[in-house]
Amino acid sequence: MQPRVAFLSAEVAPFAKVGGLGDVAGSLPPALHRRGVEIVVLLPRYGSIRLAEHNLELLHGSLVVRAAGREERFSVYRGQLAHGTPVLLLDHPGLFGEPTVYIDQRDRERFTFFCKAAPGMLDAAGMNVNLYHANDWHTAVSLLEQHDVARVFTIHNMAHQGIIDVDYAAYLGIPTGPLLEVEQTGRYPGKLNLMARAIVAADLVSTVSPRYAREIMTPEYGAGLDGLLRSRADDVLGILNGIDTETYDPSNDPAIAAHYHVDDLAGKAINKAALQRELGLDDVPDTPLVGIVSRLDDQKGFDLILAGIERALALGVQFAVLGTGAPEYHAAFARLNVEHAGRFAARLAFDVGLAQRIYAGSDMFLMPSRFEPCGLGQMIAMRYGSVPVVRATGGLADTVSEEGEQPNGFTFSEYSVDALIDALARAVAAYRARVPWWQIVANGMRRDVSWNRAAGEYLAMYRRALAKRASGTIGATG
Ligand code: GLC
Repeated sequence: MQPRVAFLSAEVAPFAKVGGLGDVAGSLPPALHRRGVEIVVLLPRYGSIRLAEHNLELLHGSLVVRAAGREERFSVYRGQLAHGTPVLLLDHPGLFGEPTVYIDQRDRERFTFFCKAAPGMLDAAGMNVNLYHANDWHTAVSLLEQHDVARVFTIHNMAHQGIIDVDYAAYLGIPTGPLLEVEQTGRYPGKLNLMARAIVAADLVSTVSPRYAREIMTPEYGAGLDGLLRSRADDVLGILNGIDTETYDPSNDPAIAAHYHVDDLAGKAINKAALQRELGLDDVPDTPLVGIVSRLDDQKGFDLILAGIERALALGVQFAVLGTGAPEYHAAFARLNVEHAGRFAARLAFDVGLAQRIYAGSDMFLMPSRFEPCGLGQMIAMRYGSVPVVRATGGLADTVSEEGEQPNGFTFSEYSVDALIDALARAVAAYRARVPWWQIVANGMRRDVSWNRAAGEYLAMYRRALAKRASGTIGATG
């Protein structure tokens, strides 16, 4: 059976993006669409999404959705992603008029409305799907409501599960039923856990790297759901994300100072000099420049970076940091900007162009994550010839290797400042030695990080979910 897929996500680049989820939802569906898979992407229209900028056209002016004890009227807009992949956006200024994707406690109500609107949005577009693919807790409710389609749930991050009081869930109109065992006895006893429910409801569950798929079945990484995931071990898949290799292409990127290619890296030095100038770093071509582009979140290992920053700088490197997030990190980085001017430059902003210039201008890219479902930064960095220095966890472990025939980066295992500084010191030594360095750079640049491979694996998963559904529902009533 051919899959006809509704792909639901709270973030879809370039419409709305906070982190990697937005990148994935913006580039995986087009890769599938290009392979001939029927797929439509659904997201809310946040206040930041301008109709004209994205060529959105009104499809339906008064879709009625019932939730939270009331009826709300929505509009549905239609747009496109790359390769003409269709997109449907749910418009309701009262619920989604703010410019940000996530707000606060209200998100549970906002995304419940979104999930409940999905069937009506698909009807309005005349789309008859046979599979729902939901991503993270925000879209989990869509899987709890659909019983006549195959259901796939992808976990991008176990840290956010969608925890709701039972009464509030019932008020929102989320099917409650008896509590799952993990809801009775787990981390949030007596509450509904939307991610857990999606894991139970889905025909197949996937996450974004093979290593993270194994890790989340252990207590250390399972965030309380490892037992539940182990009970479904046969149905849990790890599919490594790709990146959009057309956007992230150093031989063709309009945001960077000079273009280059794995066989002609002359442009890389020009980008480094331009980046040093742009950020007010000392103009020293032979000093290794370490890039960081990240959400400033505990997940990403910033406590290690801050604790080890003096030792890192003592290795004779410069830092170029870009990101936004937790206020305590903003304050700490602002302080380092002053204390280490010329050698440390952090920009606390969301700046797509500067992100590309850091990938292109840096020699190394640091990601000491505490956990990392997949991680996209290390893959983009490799493509731009910036050598990743990473903690070997989740997708970082699946993409970066220091040993073996094709070393493409530097890794450490223990979550400690010592281990991080050791790895960085090995990278600096290799950089100074020059000869192996360019081989490491080239190995990273040559790695296939496109969505092609992953799209094939998702298609196989969709087929398997449909087959499972078809065999499982014979004789069933619901
Ligand atoms: C989340 C994870 C990140 C992953 C991304 C896309 O942001 O933290 O590791 O790459 O989702 O799947």
